[in-house]
Amino acid sequence: WGALGHQSVGYVAQQFLAPNALSFVQSSLGSTYSESLGPAATWADDVKSQKAYSWSSALHYVDAEDNPPSSCSVSESRDCGSGQCILTAIANYTTRIAQTSLSAAQRQEALKFLDHFLGDIGQPLHVEAKEVGGNDIDAICGGKSTNLHAAWDTGILTTNVDANHGSSAQTYANDLVARIQSGTYKSLTSSWLSCTSTTEPASRKRSIETDLFEHISARATITPLECPLVWAQESNAYDCSVVFSYKSGQDLCTGSYYNAAVPVIDLQIAKQGYRLAAWLNVIFDGATNLP
Ligand code: ADE
Ligand code: ZN
Ligand code: ZN
Repeated sequence: WGALGHQSVGYVAQQFLAPNALSFVQSSLGSTYSESLGPAATWADDVKSQKAYSWSSALHYVDAEDNPPSSCSVSESRDCGSGQCILTAIANYTTRIAQTSLSAAQRQEALKFLDHFLGDIGQPLHVEAKEVGGNDIDAICGGKSTNLHAAWDTGILTTNVDANHGSSAQTYANDLVARIQSGTYKSLTSSWLSCTSTTEPASRKRSIETDLFEHISARATITPLECPLVWAQESNAYDCSVVFSYKSGQDLCTGSYYNAAVPVIDLQIAKQGYRLAAWLNVIFDGATNLP
């Protein structure tokens, strides 16, 4: 996502933090980031083009090598073969944020990476390898030339937030939070926290809480986490159902494609914000503390 999408994920998450998670977020981020996951969510994109952080650019995606729109799947062993992808990044920064032996600066960095990567893993084109995540696929948005990846990172999202959510990440996040608390998402939220994949064996199905307890208690830098893989599979499935369903020359930011994409984007932003809060709540408060 672009800045608007990432900030919105952060602002959604901020509203669901449990007491200890909120305290950590506020003191870790401080006034630099207005003590909020919203403003801090874009830091990882700001640094990835800097020489000192060029190693981090591969951590924003996983190049799932299946072939959308005909076939979609994600395999950690196949698609994160080098061990440098968004799945291992989430595992690594989850370990680091929980490590009290690390410095405040190191733990703030881990928080900023998690804040960002839990957003990116919800973007279907960050979980897809075709044409470099759609960056090399020409597209049109609102009459302007762009590419498929940028249309999803920013074009469709900005069009929607301008038209329906006051052109503001805060307002957009508030509208999504209202759907979570009392609207169309209310009945879905418990399923968002159960990392039950359709493709994994039953033995690997678990809740966010079980997944994190096992990971953190293992105290290894990288032990497998099931939830991020399930999130990646959900995102990747949208490549087959929605993202690649365009006709050549079609404007992606208006009409039928836009109308199909907006509900997916709203859902993915809301869901990943909610999951980010649950993730931090388990780490700092020992439970998701969410309905
Ligand atoms: N570079 C290579 N694959 C990518 C993807 N899926 N998303 C963003 N950047 C990428
Ligand atoms: Zn992107
Ligand atoms: Zn990113």
